Amino acid sequence: MLCCKKRARTRCKLPQTDTGATRAFAPAKINLTLHVTGQRDDGYHLLDSIVVFAQVGDRLWLTKGAGLNMDICGPFAAGVPADKRNLAWRAAELAGWQGHIRIEKNLPHGGGIGGGSADAGAVLRALGVTQNAVSLGADVPVCQRGQAARMRGVGDQIKGITTIAPFFAVLVNPGVHVATPDVFQLLDRKENSPLDPLPSTGAAWMDWLVSQRNDLQGPATQVAPAIVDVVQALGGTKHLLLARMSGSGSTCFGLYPTLPDAQAAAQSIAADHPDWWCVATTLS
Ligand code: C5P
Repeated sequence: MLCCKKRARTRCKLPQTDTGATRAFAPAKINLTLHVTGQRDDGYHLLDSIVVFAQVGDRLWLTKGAGLNMDICGPFAAGVPADKRNLAWRAAELAGWQGHIRIEKNLPHGGGIGGGSADAGAVLRALGVTQNAVSLGADVPVCQRGQAARMRGVGDQIKGITTIAPFFAVLVNPGVHVATPDVFQLLDRKENSPLDPLPSTGAAWMDWLVSQRNDLQGPATQVAPAIVDVVQALGGTKHLLLARMSGSGSTCFGLYPTLPDAQAAAQSIAADHPDWWCVATTLS
């Protein structure tokens, strides 16, 4: 893993209460594909998406106690609410759990890689909640699972995938927040084809992925033109197999044959764009 730019870390307000805390990891969620196949009467869109998880993510500590409280630290802590607005808080409430939650925000939020849903999923996993928590958000059930899956419905139908091989990737975020509802609103065609039949062997996945889409990439680019720059920067790296946006953006990923290829690509993008968040990682 390689971070292209050192960000100032925000310190947690409370002393480290690691002893006795349950630790949880909230990996970045990557939509390798995201097809929008329809829209429900309530406005929510029907999705068909392959989701995998990175080795980079937020870290959480859950310490049981009276009442619910939270503090946030880490390079992306700024602007993250430490109250009921935080999905991790609502996940704890859903579980009927009380205590202190510390979140170390290592992932850019509003970036199409999980954000609060990743943290909520980690809380639910740590607390052993198995009920489908789509009421918290469309990305929460897949993050609750935290392993490679096909996501359908509005995000509530999750089926694990065992044949998928690990991918070597660079994740790049240009520092632009994208509001998911704005992106869906700009989607002019709601009824697009679902995913082609899934590959049955690990070796077939890469070619298959190249032939699939993220239907939100066009509309997200209208909201955040920087996405074009990110895809172009990935396109200029050696050994790139595929460059695509994750979720509703603005984070994009590039896939490479090996981890050293991904690390070299991350280094070259970092050199040209020191303000971007850029990480080489394995996706599985
Ligand atoms: O569920 P979540 O709060 O993550 O969704 C944010 C917004 O994204 C929704 O309010 C909706 O506008 C849009 N969305 C959608 N269809 C989905 C998921 C999200 O239209 N399946």
